[in-house]
Amino acid sequence: CGITGYLGYREAYPIVINGLQRLEYRGYDSAGIVLTSKENKLKLFKTKGKVSDLKKIAKKNNTEGNLGLGHTRWATHGVPNNANSHPHISNSGNLVIVHNGIIENYNTIKKELIKRGYIFHSDTDTEVLINLIEEVQIKNNCKLGKAVQLALTNVVGAYAIAVYDINNPTEIIIARLGSPLAIGIGENNSEFFVASDASPFIEYTKDAIYLDDEELAIIKLGKTIRVRKIHDDSIVEPNIQELKLNLEQIEKGGYDHFMLKEIHEQPQAISDTYRGRLLADKGIIKMGSVDNNIAKFLNAKRIIVVACGTSWHAGLVGEYLLEDLARIPVEVEYASEFRYRNPIINKGDIVIAISQSGETADTLAAIKLAKSKGAFVFGICNVVGSSIARETDSGAYTHAGPEIGVASTKAFTTQITLLALMALKLGNLNGELSNSKFHDYLQKMSMIPGKIEQLLNINSEIEKIAAIYKDAPNCLYLGRGYNFPVALEGALKLKEISYIHAEGYPAAEMKHGPIALIDESMPVVVIATKKGHYDKVVSNIQEIKSRNGKIIAIVTEGDTIVKEIADHVIEIPETEEAFTPLLTTIPLQLLSYHIAVMRGCNVDQPRNLAKSVTVE
Ligand code: G6P
Repeated sequence: CGITGYLGYREAYPIVINGLQRLEYRGYDSAGIVLTSKENKLKLFKTKGKVSDLKKIAKKNNTEGNLGLGHTRWATHGVPNNANSHPHISNSGNLVIVHNGIIENYNTIKKELIKRGYIFHSDTDTEVLINLIEEVQIKNNCKLGKAVQLALTNVVGAYAIAVYDINNPTEIIIARLGSPLAIGIGENNSEFFVASDASPFIEYTKDAIYLDDEELAIIKLGKTIRVRKIHDDSIVEPNIQELKLNLEQIEKGGYDHFMLKEIHEQPQAISDTYRGRLLADKGIIKMGSVDNNIAKFLNAKRIIVVACGTSWHAGLVGEYLLEDLARIPVEVEYASEFRYRNPIINKGDIVIAISQSGETADTLAAIKLAKSKGAFVFGICNVVGSSIARETDSGAYTHAGPEIGVASTKAFTTQITLLALMALKLGNLNGELSNSKFHDYLQKMSMIPGKIEQLLNINSEIEKIAAIYKDAPNCLYLGRGYNFPVALEGALKLKEISYIHAEGYPAAEMKHGPIALIDESMPVVVIATKKGHYDKVVSNIQEIKSRNGKIIAIVTEGDTIVKEIADHVIEIPETEEAFTPLLTTIPLQLLSYHIAVMRGCNVDQPRNLAKSVTVE
């Protein structure tokens, strides 16, 4: 879900609508916009569905106004419908709000407000919040900024909000706790932009402020922005940053979908992750954030990885890398489980949190818990300046560039890349990897981007395979060792964007259950690279074949044995076993992409999914 807003001298409507479209990648199920002009104080359009549906409604109406807020909603409280869509309006009809996040104690507040005569038109926690703000303002006879601040001190939960009074169209109040919010500042404070991230206003200004948690900003036309801490009312000096992102980076660049673009960007993205770190010719890996905490890493008794979704799969590959190359015990936890099960964290444990967006609520909460138990927390994030990047004790950015497609691709491979760099560096420093072995790994690692470039040429071959299996009701993915997590990720990609049921399994576990599902209608994707327990996987392939399953095998180039048995064979270039996930992932991404396109699915914004899940 996302927020956009505009206050200034231009027409707000096109800016807010384009902004919403730019935030579409975050995933949503309904959209809305509110506009205010001198003559017409409240114009409100909202609908279940896409921003394009909202545009159709707005087109039939007057959309004038220099002030507006837009919202895309991902349902938490209340089903996706028109009434539950944002913006919401207070009972007096004067205050409007857009909100991301969840107000946990909304029911208690709602009951109180109902006692005072408030009426509710939706099932949302947001409508409760705007009426609470109204009630507080009336009771204290104060300005809107103060009322928002006081109301928020009574709220439990997470939020990014933007609020204004239709009778005072020169001011917007925004606040955040747990959900991101950025402000774009026009020249001499002549205009302001508000959004969940900077992409909606990148073409208008490079000057931005990212609100921190617990902060409230009063944005007034022609005035400097004032920022306060919500609970203790202290003044915060706003930190105006210059944005480095450009528009081209966040647009599709000639590809049909962001996902396809991002798949093809992987050679560059991995090179960007290497930049300044992998110095293969000098035989060193430089990572400031690891070097600065080297004693902690070298004395680590255990590393606990916390993450969600695709990032969790990258964590699993990290487990194989760190245990194999650096011989450090690793546990990989779903952040959502870790945070609620009173985890054991001992002295000498290090927590690594992995997150593309850096905003995932469960991962953020897991980090806070680990810190409260005294752990040193290291973050691996893609989005610079994100909440997780700020909350962790130290960390490294993947530098993959903006990932817009909801299904994660280049974020995954760059997360693995960073984990591989860390594992190699630590393994060499703690004596587990000899210098010669280490140098050999570095050389091979530096060749990965080129090998992915070469591998991407199989796109049309994969398209043909996709055409054969696009109507399969189920699909099984098998892999062993380093490629077991890749099998999980391959299955996740297929379900996310094509809605075909898919499962990933360790190849040898097949005989303990999934084998019962195999018949001639079941495609099985098997990762059977040369070094990864090859012979054992070949036996698994034979077991599938004898039950008439259809086999799509990912093999190392030059393979002859699997070729004889499998229905389709996709070759990947030769590399160290530890680096094979970076290659085997690519055909699986392309396979799910083409199947989804052929099934007519919305690849970049699959149903029910969000790019950045800021609710638990
Ligand atoms: C959502 C996204 C996934 C992502 C997961 C974790 O579910 O749809 O693609 O893997 O969140 O997100 P993070 O930003 O923490 O990596």
